[in-house]
Amino acid sequence: MPADPAGLFEVIHHLEMRRPTDLRHKRGTDLEVRQARLRLWSLNRWLHGEVGRGYWFGREGWTTEDWQRYTEREGFETWLGYLEGTPVGYFELVRAREQTRIKCFGLFAHFVGRGLGAHLLTEALERAWQGETQKVVLDTCNLDHPAALPNYLARGMQLARTERLPLNPASAAAQAIREGRCRGAIYNAHNLGGDADNVVK
Ligand SMILES: CC(C)(COP(=O)(O)OP(=O)(O)OC[C@H]1O[C@@H](n2cnc3c(N)ncnc32)[C@H](O)[C@@H]1OP(=O)(O)O)[C@@H](O)C(=O)NCCC(=O)NCCS
Repeated sequence: MPADPAGLFEVIHHLEMRRPTDLRHKRGTDLEVRQARLRLWSLNRWLHGEVGRGYWFGREGWTTEDWQRYTEREGFETWLGYLEGTPVGYFELVRAREQTRIKCFGLFAHFVGRGLGAHLLTEALERAWQGETQKVVLDTCNLDHPAALPNYLARGMQLARTERLPLNPASAAAQAIREGRCRGAIYNAHNLGGDADNVVK
Protein backbone atom coordinates (compact mmCIF):
# COMPACT_ATOMS: atom_id res chain seq x y z
CA MET A 1 0.00 0.00 0.00
CA PRO A 2 1.57 3.38 -0.89
CA ALA A 3 2.14 5.67 2.06
CA ASP A 4 0.22 8.91 2.35
CA PRO A 5 2.33 11.85 1.07
CA ALA A 6 2.00 13.35 4.54
CA GLY A 7 3.27 10.07 6.05
CA LEU A 8 0.09 9.43 8.00
CA PHE A 9 -0.37 6.04 9.56
CA GLU A 10 -3.00 4.13 11.43
CA VAL A 11 -2.11 2.51 14.73
CA ILE A 12 -4.32 -0.49 15.42
CA HIS A 13 -4.46 -1.90 18.96
CA HIS A 14 -5.62 -5.50 19.28
CA LEU A 15 -7.08 -5.99 22.76
CA GLU A 16 -8.19 -9.10 24.56
CA MET A 17 -9.56 -10.37 27.87
CA ARG A 18 -8.79 -13.97 28.79
CA ARG A 19 -10.64 -14.31 32.12
CA PRO A 20 -14.05 -12.93 33.11
CA THR A 21 -12.56 -12.09 36.50
CA ASP A 22 -10.31 -9.51 34.76
CA LEU A 23 -13.37 -7.35 34.07
CA ARG A 24 -13.32 -4.16 36.14
CA HIS A 25 -17.01 -3.28 36.31
CA LYS A 26 -18.08 0.36 36.33
CA ARG A 27 -21.71 1.40 36.35
CA GLY A 28 -23.16 4.49 38.06
CA THR A 29 -25.74 5.48 35.43
CA ASP A 30 -29.33 4.34 34.81
CA LEU A 31 -28.35 2.66 31.58
CA GLU A 32 -30.55 -0.19 30.37
CA VAL A 33 -29.20 -2.60 27.78
CA ARG A 34 -31.36 -4.69 25.47
CA GLN A 35 -30.63 -6.91 22.52
CA ALA A 36 -32.25 -6.03 19.19
CA ARG A 37 -33.17 -9.63 18.49
CA LEU A 38 -34.72 -9.14 15.07
CA ARG A 39 -31.92 -8.62 12.59
CA LEU A 40 -32.31 -5.38 10.66
CA TRP A 41 -29.27 -4.43 8.57
CA SER A 42 -30.46 -0.83 8.11
CA LEU A 43 -30.44 -0.36 11.90
CA ASN A 44 -26.75 -1.35 12.06
CA ARG A 45 -25.96 0.88 9.10
CA TRP A 46 -27.65 3.80 10.84
CA LEU A 47 -25.98 3.14 14.19
CA HIS A 48 -22.58 2.86 12.50
CA GLY A 49 -23.15 6.13 10.66
CA GLU A 50 -24.32 8.06 13.73
CA VAL A 51 -21.97 6.71 16.40
CA GLY A 52 -18.97 6.45 14.08
CA ARG A 53 -19.33 9.83 12.39
CA GLY A 54 -15.88 11.40 12.28
CA TYR A 55 -14.23 8.23 13.64
CA TRP A 56 -15.07 5.18 11.56
CA PHE A 57 -14.19 4.94 7.88
CA GLY A 58 -14.14 2.21 5.28
CA ARG A 59 -17.79 1.25 4.88
CA GLU A 60 -18.79 4.22 2.72
CA GLY A 61 -19.08 1.98 -0.33
CA TRP A 62 -20.97 -0.85 1.34
CA THR A 63 -24.04 -1.98 -0.57
CA THR A 64 -27.30 -3.28 0.87
CA GLU A 65 -25.97 -6.78 0.25
CA ASP A 66 -22.76 -6.02 2.17
CA TRP A 67 -24.78 -4.84 5.18
CA GLN A 68 -27.10 -7.82 4.96
CA ARG A 69 -24.17 -10.25 4.82
CA TYR A 70 -22.55 -8.46 7.78
CA THR A 71 -25.58 -8.54 10.07
CA GLU A 72 -26.92 -11.93 9.06
CA ARG A 73 -23.80 -13.92 9.75
CA GLU A 74 -23.93 -16.62 12.39
CA GLY A 75 -23.23 -15.47 15.94
CA PHE A 76 -23.87 -11.78 15.22
CA GLU A 77 -25.71 -9.80 17.93
CA THR A 78 -26.76 -6.15 18.24
CA TRP A 79 -27.28 -4.56 21.66
CA LEU A 80 -28.52 -1.04 22.40
CA GLY A 81 -28.10 1.06 25.54
CA TYR A 82 -31.00 3.27 26.67
CA LEU A 83 -31.36 6.12 29.15
CA GLU A 84 -34.99 6.79 30.06
CA GLY A 85 -36.05 4.96 26.90
CA THR A 86 -33.77 6.94 24.58
CA PRO A 87 -31.02 5.03 22.74
CA VAL A 88 -27.59 6.36 23.74
CA GLY A 89 -25.25 3.90 22.06
CA TYR A 90 -24.72 0.33 20.98
CA PHE A 91 -22.41 -2.58 20.59
CA GLU A 92 -22.20 -5.59 18.32
CA LEU A 93 -20.94 -9.01 19.36
CA VAL A 94 -19.77 -11.77 17.06
CA ARG A 95 -19.67 -15.14 18.80
CA ALA A 96 -17.47 -17.75 17.14
CA ARG A 97 -16.93 -20.93 19.13
CA GLU A 98 -14.71 -20.01 22.08
CA GLN A 99 -14.04 -16.40 21.10
CA THR A 100 -16.37 -13.41 21.20
CA ARG A 101 -15.45 -10.26 19.31
CA ILE A 102 -16.85 -6.88 20.28
CA LYS A 103 -17.21 -5.45 16.80
CA CYS A 104 -18.63 -1.91 16.85
CA PHE A 105 -18.88 -0.13 20.20
CA GLY A 106 -19.79 3.46 21.01
CA LEU A 107 -22.15 6.22 22.03
CA PHE A 108 -24.01 8.91 20.11
CA ALA A 109 -21.93 12.11 20.34
CA HIS A 110 -24.54 13.76 22.58
CA PHE A 111 -23.91 11.20 25.36
CA VAL A 112 -20.11 11.07 25.32
CA GLY A 113 -18.17 12.03 28.44
CA ARG A 114 -20.76 11.27 31.15
CA GLY A 115 -19.60 7.87 32.33
CA LEU A 116 -21.84 5.99 29.92
CA GLY A 117 -18.92 4.60 27.93
CA ALA A 118 -17.57 2.82 31.02
CA HIS A 119 -21.03 1.49 31.90
CA LEU A 120 -21.86 0.34 28.36
CA LEU A 121 -18.51 -1.43 28.08
CA THR A 122 -19.09 -3.20 31.40
CA GLU A 123 -22.40 -4.48 30.01
CA ALA A 124 -20.81 -5.44 26.68
CA LEU A 125 -18.04 -7.42 28.33
CA GLU A 126 -20.46 -9.20 30.66
CA ARG A 127 -22.56 -10.29 27.70
CA ALA A 128 -19.50 -11.21 25.67
CA TRP A 129 -18.52 -13.63 28.42
CA GLN A 130 -21.83 -15.50 28.34
CA GLY A 131 -21.85 -18.97 26.82
CA GLU A 132 -18.77 -20.93 25.75
CA THR A 133 -16.45 -17.92 25.44
CA GLN A 134 -12.84 -18.37 26.50
CA LYS A 135 -11.58 -15.05 25.17
CA VAL A 136 -13.06 -11.65 24.32
CA VAL A 137 -11.31 -9.58 21.64
CA LEU A 138 -11.67 -6.09 20.20
CA ASP A 139 -9.71 -3.72 17.96
CA THR A 140 -9.35 0.03 18.32
CA CYS A 141 -7.17 2.55 16.50
CA ASN A 142 -5.77 6.06 16.66
CA LEU A 143 -8.72 7.37 14.61
CA ASP A 144 -11.17 6.41 17.41
CA HIS A 145 -12.19 8.74 20.24
CA PRO A 146 -9.28 9.39 22.64
CA ALA A 147 -11.24 7.77 25.50
CA ALA A 148 -11.62 4.49 23.55
CA LEU A 149 -8.31 2.80 24.37
CA PRO A 150 -8.18 4.09 27.99
CA ASN A 151 -11.74 2.80 28.54
CA TYR A 152 -10.88 -0.69 27.29
CA LEU A 153 -7.75 -0.79 29.47
CA ALA A 154 -9.62 0.63 32.48
CA ARG A 155 -12.21 -2.17 32.21
CA GLY A 156 -9.45 -4.80 32.30
CA MET A 157 -8.70 -5.58 28.66
CA GLN A 158 -5.05 -6.19 27.79
CA LEU A 159 -3.07 -5.03 24.80
CA ALA A 160 -2.18 -8.15 22.77
CA ARG A 161 -0.55 -6.52 19.73
CA THR A 162 -0.18 -3.13 18.06
CA GLU A 163 0.20 -2.59 14.31
CA ARG A 164 1.30 0.56 12.54
CA LEU A 165 0.09 0.75 8.95
CA PRO A 166 0.57 3.54 6.41
CA LEU A 167 -2.72 5.13 5.46
CA ASN A 168 -3.56 4.74 1.80
CA PRO A 169 -3.87 8.35 0.54
CA ALA A 170 -6.93 7.33 -1.48
CA SER A 171 -8.72 5.85 1.55
CA ALA A 172 -11.80 7.48 3.01
CA ALA A 173 -9.93 7.99 6.30
CA ALA A 174 -7.00 9.83 4.65
CA GLN A 175 -9.45 11.95 2.68
CA ALA A 176 -11.40 12.81 5.84
CA ILE A 177 -8.17 13.73 7.64
CA ARG A 178 -7.14 16.04 4.80
CA GLU A 179 -10.58 17.68 4.84
CA GLY A 180 -10.66 18.06 8.64
CA ARG A 181 -13.62 15.67 9.04
CA CYS A 182 -11.81 13.01 11.06
CA ARG A 183 -12.46 13.85 14.70
CA GLY A 184 -10.27 11.05 15.99
CA ALA A 185 -7.35 12.42 13.98
CA ILE A 186 -7.93 15.90 15.37
CA TYR A 187 -7.79 14.54 18.94
CA ASN A 188 -4.97 12.11 18.25
CA ALA A 189 -2.82 14.18 15.88
CA HIS A 190 0.20 13.51 18.10
CA ASN A 191 0.21 9.81 17.20
CA LEU A 192 -0.75 10.02 13.55
CA GLY A 193 2.86 10.52 12.46
CA GLY A 194 4.25 12.26 9.41
CA ASP A 195 3.16 15.82 8.88
CA ALA A 196 -0.05 15.31 10.79
CA ASP A 197 0.20 18.71 12.42
CA ASN A 198 0.11 20.30 8.97
CA VAL A 199 -2.69 18.09 7.72
CA VAL A 200 -4.97 18.04 10.72
CA LYS A 201 -6.49 21.42 11.40
C1 LIG B 1 -15.13 5.70 23.42
C2 LIG B 1 -16.41 6.09 24.15
C3 LIG B 1 -17.35 4.90 24.21
C4 LIG B 1 -16.03 6.46 25.60
O1 LIG B 1 -17.20 6.91 26.25
P1 LIG B 1 -17.19 8.16 27.24
O2 LIG B 1 -18.56 8.45 27.64
O3 LIG B 1 -16.41 9.25 26.57
O4 LIG B 1 -16.34 7.59 28.44
P2 LIG B 1 -16.61 7.66 30.01
O5 LIG B 1 -16.87 9.06 30.42
O6 LIG B 1 -17.59 6.63 30.39
O7 LIG B 1 -15.17 7.21 30.53
C5 LIG B 1 -14.75 5.87 30.29
C6 LIG B 1 -13.25 5.75 30.37
O8 LIG B 1 -12.65 6.47 29.31
C7 LIG B 1 -11.44 7.06 29.77
N1 LIG B 1 -11.56 8.48 29.50
C8 LIG B 1 -12.65 9.26 29.70
N2 LIG B 1 -12.42 10.50 29.25
C9 LIG B 1 -11.17 10.51 28.73
C10 LIG B 1 -10.36 11.47 28.08
N3 LIG B 1 -10.79 12.71 27.89
N4 LIG B 1 -9.12 11.11 27.67
C11 LIG B 1 -8.66 9.87 27.86
N5 LIG B 1 -9.41 8.91 28.45
C12 LIG B 1 -10.62 9.23 28.89
C13 LIG B 1 -11.25 6.67 31.20
O9 LIG B 1 -10.41 5.54 31.23
C14 LIG B 1 -12.65 6.28 31.65
O10 LIG B 1 -12.65 5.20 32.54
P3 LIG B 1 -12.46 5.44 34.15
O11 LIG B 1 -13.45 6.51 34.50
O12 LIG B 1 -12.74 4.12 34.75
O13 LIG B 1 -11.03 5.87 34.28
C15 LIG B 1 -17.10 7.30 23.46
O14 LIG B 1 -16.23 8.40 23.51
C16 LIG B 1 -17.52 7.05 22.02
O15 LIG B 1 -18.45 6.32 21.78
N6 LIG B 1 -16.82 7.70 21.05
C17 LIG B 1 -17.18 7.65 19.62
C18 LIG B 1 -17.03 6.25 18.98
C19 LIG B 1 -15.74 5.55 19.33
O16 LIG B 1 -14.64 6.05 19.19
N7 LIG B 1 -15.89 4.30 19.79
C20 LIG B 1 -14.80 3.42 20.13
C21 LIG B 1 -14.49 2.55 18.98
S1 LIG B 1 -13.24 1.36 19.32
